[in-house]
Order: sequence, then C-alpha cells, then structure tokens
Amino acid sequence: MEERSSFSGRLGFVLAAASSAVGLGNIWRFPYLAAKYGGGLFLLVYIILVVTFGFSLMVAEIALGRKTGLSVIGAYKKLDKRWAFTGVLSAIIPAIILPYYCVIGGWVTKYLATYIQGAGEMAAQDDFFTGFIGNTVPPLFWMSLFLLVTFVVVLLGVKKGIEMASKFLMPLLILLVVGIAIYSLTLPGIWEGVAFYLIPDFSRFSISLVLAAMGQMFFSMSLAMGIMVTYGSYLKKSDDIEKSVKNIEWFDTGIAILAGLLIVPTAFMFFGGDAEKIQAGPSLMFITMPKVFSSMGGAGQVVGLLFFLLVLFAALTSSISLMETVVSVVMDRFGIGRKLACILVLVYLFLLAVPSSLGFGVWGFIQVAGMTILDLFDFLSNSLLMPLVALLTCLFVGYAIKPSAIAQEVQLSSQFKREKMFVVMIKYVAPIFVVGILISSILNSLGIITL
Ligand code: TRP
Repeated sequence: MEERSSFSGRLGFVLAAASSAVGLGNIWRFPYLAAKYGGGLFLLVYIILVVTFGFSLMVAEIALGRKTGLSVIGAYKKLDKRWAFTGVLSAIIPAIILPYYCVIGGWVTKYLATYIQGAGEMAAQDDFFTGFIGNTVPPLFWMSLFLLVTFVVVLLGVKKGIEMASKFLMPLLILLVVGIAIYSLTLPGIWEGVAFYLIPDFSRFSISLVLAAMGQMFFSMSLAMGIMVTYGSYLKKSDDIEKSVKNIEWFDTGIAILAGLLIVPTAFMFFGGDAEKIQAGPSLMFITMPKVFSSMGGAGQVVGLLFFLLVLFAALTSSISLMETVVSVVMDRFGIGRKLACILVLVYLFLLAVPSSLGFGVWGFIQVAGMTILDLFDFLSNSLLMPLVALLTCLFVGYAIKPSAIAQEVQLSSQFKREKMFVVMIKYVAPIFVVGILISSILNSLGIITL
C-alpha cells in the first residue's frame, strides 16, 4: 500500500492519536453524560475505567497494529484467521458513528456561523437550539457542509496538513478550555455546581452509570473500533508504547474533565441548582454555553466564536479520521480507488445522516425504545457494538494469541510496567465486566429490566 508511513517519532504519534481521540466526545458528550449520571460519581467511575480497562485495551490495540503492520481487518486475520470477523466488526463501528457525528458537527458549524455574524445573543435565547434542530432544511444544510469539508479533506488525502494543523490547534484548544473554565469559576454561585460535578454521591450509583461511562470511554479514546490498531501499525518499533498510551489517555481525559468543568457547573447554576432540571442530553453544550458567553458581555461574543471554532476543529480532525478509516476499509475490501470509495462513503453517510438529523424534527415520531434516531445510533455503537468488540479483543488477546504476545511487542521498545495489571484486566476483569454490561444493556433495551 502507498502509505504504510510511520510517524515522525513518538510525539507525532501521540499528537495524531490524540487529535483523533479529542473531539466531540470530550467537549460535547462527556459533559452531558456527567451531568446526567450524577456528576462526581460518573467522573470517578470514568477515570477508574480509563486507567485500567481503557489503558489495557489501548495498549493491546496499538501493539496489535505494530506487531502486524496492518490495519484492523488484516491485523486479526494475520494472527489468526478464525478471528478475522472481529476486525470486520470493528471496522463497521466508525461507519455507524460518523453519520450522526456529522449531524452534531453541523450544529457546531451553525453556532460558529451565528457567532461570526455577531448574533451570539440570539444563540443564548431559550428556544434557539430546539428551534434550530427541530427545523428541516437548516440542520440538513449545516450537516452537509460539515460532511462536505470532511469529504474534501479525505478525498485529497492531506494527512500531513491535518497533523500540522493539530500541532497548532491542540495547544490552542487546551488554552481556551482552561481559560473559559477559569472564567466560569468566577461566576457567582458556581461552587455549588462545581461540588456537584466533582464530589461523588455514591447513592446515585447505577448500572446504567457504569454502562454509560464505559461507552463514553470507548468513544472518547477511539477504542474498540480498530482505529488504534491502524495507528499502531504506523508506529516505529523503537517508540515506547506504554508511555504513549499514558500520554494519550491523560490528554484525552484531561480535556474531557476540563470541558465538563466549564459546562456542568454553569448548567447546574442556570437551572437553579436542580440536578434533575439540567437538560442533560445532546443539547447541553448548545444551550448552556451560549448563555455563559452572553453573561460575559461583549467579550463573550469573541470567546464564543473562538470556542465554537475550536470545537469545530476538534470535531473535524475526528470526523476526518473516522471517514479516513471507513474509506480505507472500503478501498481494501472492494479493491477500488480512493475517489470512488470516497463518493460511495459520502452517499452512504448522507443516507444515514439525514434521518439522524430529521429525528429531532419532522421524523421525531420515529423512536426506538424511547430513543431518537441519533440516540439510537449512538446507543448501537457505544453501548452494544463497542463492548462486544472490546470483549472479542480481550478474548483474542487473552486466550488466542496470549497476553505475552502483546507484552513482547511492548517490550521491544521499553519495559512494560503495568504488565501484571494488563494481563489480569485482559484475561479476567474486563471480559467479565463487559459481559455483565452487555447483558444488562440488552435486557434493558428489551424492557426486561430497567436500568
Ligand atoms: N474519540 C472521538 C471523540 O472523542 C470520536 C471518535 C470515536 C473517533 N471513534 C473515532 C474519532 C474514530 C476518530 C476516529 O470525539
């Protein structure tokens, strides 16, 4: 293949993986889940999952990729033909995520445009968001715009440009997130919200909290969908895998926690400290943030513009990496060129993105188990398929090729400090955990139990 290139060292790898990982998941999805599932407790469960389960799975995926030098479908097949289906299954997940990712990306684009027009005050009004997404043509227009930009970049294959851009955008993103978080901490009455966000309330523990935290971990760290296998295949044998994984996980989690810090407490405050009233759903970022900016006076317009610009870039680097994955699978699978593959994928994306968008308006009557179409795709990928792929990956590594195969790969470039934990996680803890989660989530969606 033309591009089995390697990254320009560990920093290049970490940056590329981080810019794929940091996206809407961190800034849009994490805060609303944290608000929905009881703030501090969600945070705690999330962090525990990241440093144990997430860490082990990411090491396994990156090592699989580097060991085989292949992207996901090829990697499993090369090590054991009988497991090839796991690779195929992983490759399907980005194709489910991307259509609705583009819908949200479209919302972000619309907000950016609104701030560019200097109409940030309008965006802060109560029914601006629901009015917008409930409409028919405007959300489709912005979704298409976002999708087209993603399409053009993937078509041109400007991988270098994206890497360059993320080198500038990532630090800028951090600066802005930190800056706005600090500002929001100066708002009156905010500390009650901060306490809600940071202090765990153990009485709110539930299986759905763990399920949501785990789904979020997969989504945010781009795990259980073959992405990290592909990235690992570009990594040099001399680059330290364990250290890279630690960098990526902390970077990704840090941005998510900060984004939550600037969104959840302010939302909590706006809704009068009533945790039940926070509209903790996909709309949280779009309803709360404009209000925060509006309360900043004139400066808020500029900050709002910058905020949505950076969210847009974070979303774009992720959507490009998602589409790139889907396109490369289609190219390999059907033996067609990039251009044709891009066009086919574009058509497919439209077909799924349009209903996802209309599900908030004219097609709102279509609901499956109480979920809108967008929520349904989100649920299918994050709560069902990703745990399934994670389970298969654990079984594959734990019992088919054995954890030592991964450990040896890691040890080519460094010691494997957390090897013991890795083995225990992959062989025992993670599989048992995931099976429990899968069963309860299926029973829940069938209405047999209520989480
Ligand atoms: N991790 C990305 C985020 O937090 C979303 C995502 C999921 C993704 N899977 C991916 C990005 C695959 C790139 C590639 O928003």
